[in-house]
Amino acid sequence: MASIRIKDLVKRFENGVEAVQNVNLEIADGEFVVLVGPSGCGKSTTLRMVAGLEEASEGEIFIGGKRVNEMEPGKRDIAMVFQNYALYPHMTVRQNMSFGLKMRNVAKAEIQQRVNEAAAILSIESLLDRRPRELSGGQRQRVAVGRAIVRKPAAYLFDEPLSNLDAKLRLQMRKELAQIHQQLQTTTLYVTHDQVEAMTLGQRIVVMNEGKIQQVATPMKLYEAPANRFVASFIGSPAMNILPGKILENGQQFQSHRSVTTYPLKTTANQAKLPSQGLLGFRPEHLTLDASHPRIGIVDIDLVERLGDESLVYFQLDEQNCTARLPGHAACQAGDRLSLYLPEDRWHLFSAHPPHEVISQGCIAKT
Ligand SMILES: Nc1ncnc2c1ncn2[C@@H]1O[C@H](COP(=O)(O)OP(=O)(O)O)[C@@H](O)[C@H]1O
Ligand SMILES: [Mg+2]
Repeated sequence: MASIRIKDLVKRFENGVEAVQNVNLEIADGEFVVLVGPSGCGKSTTLRMVAGLEEASEGEIFIGGKRVNEMEPGKRDIAMVFQNYALYPHMTVRQNMSFGLKMRNVAKAEIQQRVNEAAAILSIESLLDRRPRELSGGQRQRVAVGRAIVRKPAAYLFDEPLSNLDAKLRLQMRKELAQIHQQLQTTTLYVTHDQVEAMTLGQRIVVMNEGKIQQVATPMKLYEAPANRFVASFIGSPAMNILPGKILENGQQFQSHRSVTTYPLKTTANQAKLPSQGLLGFRPEHLTLDASHPRIGIVDIDLVERLGDESLVYFQLDEQNCTARLPGHAACQAGDRLSLYLPEDRWHLFSAHPPHEVISQGCIAKT
């Protein structure tokens, strides 16, 4: 096992695209870190540079404390699992899993033992003599993971390994990957565009956008204390509501642009530093019909979606599209006028200017 350190990493493609811009990241020995962000933000490029499949334009990569920039992929002692499983079609599962070890001249008995161990961990013992075309998508993905496990590498790199699976299988494999990590404790860098996958798998999460790291934190910290508007909107579903407006009364009050909403801010930030404009963010699940909290607005409901345990209520507030997540039986329907309230510790205030960094917030993150 080994730590991974990425220092001032840049990737500039020949067409001028700067896919990765000054990325710095440390993954501790045995840690599971997830790199998450929208399509095209530079996740795969970052991972491929760590793997050695792509050359870094600038910066350094260390695996187990050793600089690997000039080292060939095969020498870096890492195993990578891709979205398309890339199994050899003419080989059996056992041969697919053994191949990498055979190439490294590992003794036959040892190969046998490692393949059997990995097969047991992944519950694919009964598939060892089949060929890939005789396997389901989920089984193939298991074999691809098995091929990585038998190598006993210093670190695993995963690039959207579950994207080709249907929703149910994705959930199951997600749980299995988490369990495998608990068991093997191998350093892992896992790439996905799926925020739920990131939240459930990552001990720490790296949120990336447009080639830059936006925030590195534990899942709960990301949710409770997003560093900027991008992270706030990306993590959590439905996305956080955002209302542009003015900060008044020496930082004690927020007023939306058209004065539709005024909301009290109990801010702990140095109020002399608060700007006159900002974005108020609040999550759909924190809106409530409970009038003991400050009111965020009186709204006309556009649409109600009943999901059983909850109802998603859509409305406009000061011309912004907003959502409230209310209990399943919440007594409201499209066309109704509704008063919505927000607990005093459930707001976030972001700068009015890009990158819209957080200025202050009502809740203090615990983790
Ligand atoms: N070989 C390449 N040549 C030029 N541009 C590329 C190449 N590979 C990726 N890119 C660009 O770099 C950016 C990041 O790509 P990528 O790392 O694949 O994103 P992600 O994995 O987050 O979806 C994108 O804008 C993509 O179009
Ligand atoms: Mg990608």
